[in-house]
Amino acid sequence: MSRSAGILAAVFAVAGLATAALAGPRDARHPDEGRERYVAAGCWQCHGYEGQGGAGPRIGPRPLPLPAFTALLRKPVSDMPPYSARVLPDGDVLLIHRFLASRPPPADLAEVQRRAESLPAAP
Ligand code: HEC
Repeated sequence: MSRSAGILAAVFAVAGLATAALAGPRDARHPDEGRERYVAAGCWQCHGYEGQGGAGPRIGPRPLPLPAFTALLRKPVSDMPPYSARVLPDGDVLLIHRFLASRPPPADLAEVQRRAESLPAAP
């Protein structure tokens, strides 16, 4: 390896390490991992595939802060089945929480109505 190529390789290695350190170990995981856990745990059955709600309340895109979120999973208030740490470890809860937080915001109803009214009338 020539001297300049060696220096270049060293620069890239350091930059790579710095990026990994900044991102932290959590961010090395793919964001879809949270969706996989969410689907596998069956949360979608009551909260919808996007956390938009159904039989259970909406839980995305602004889920409760992680400690409260985790506490409610471990000891739900009423109709929700409890998820112990053996069934759903804290790491999985974190991924699910991040998945929910990354959901797009719900549509603005006024905007939806405005657009619907601006459509041409059906023939
Ligand atoms: C069988 C239906 C059902 C399933 C499955 C379910 N939930 Fe729920 N969930 C509910 C209901 C109903 C509530 C309303 C409060 C209660 O009953 O505890 C709720 C409440 C919550 C809350 C509190 C919401 C708030 O803002 O007050 C969170 C967080 C939550 N669920 C997350 C989850 C996650 C994550 C999963 C999957 C691991 C899950 N739930 C699976 C029915 C369900």
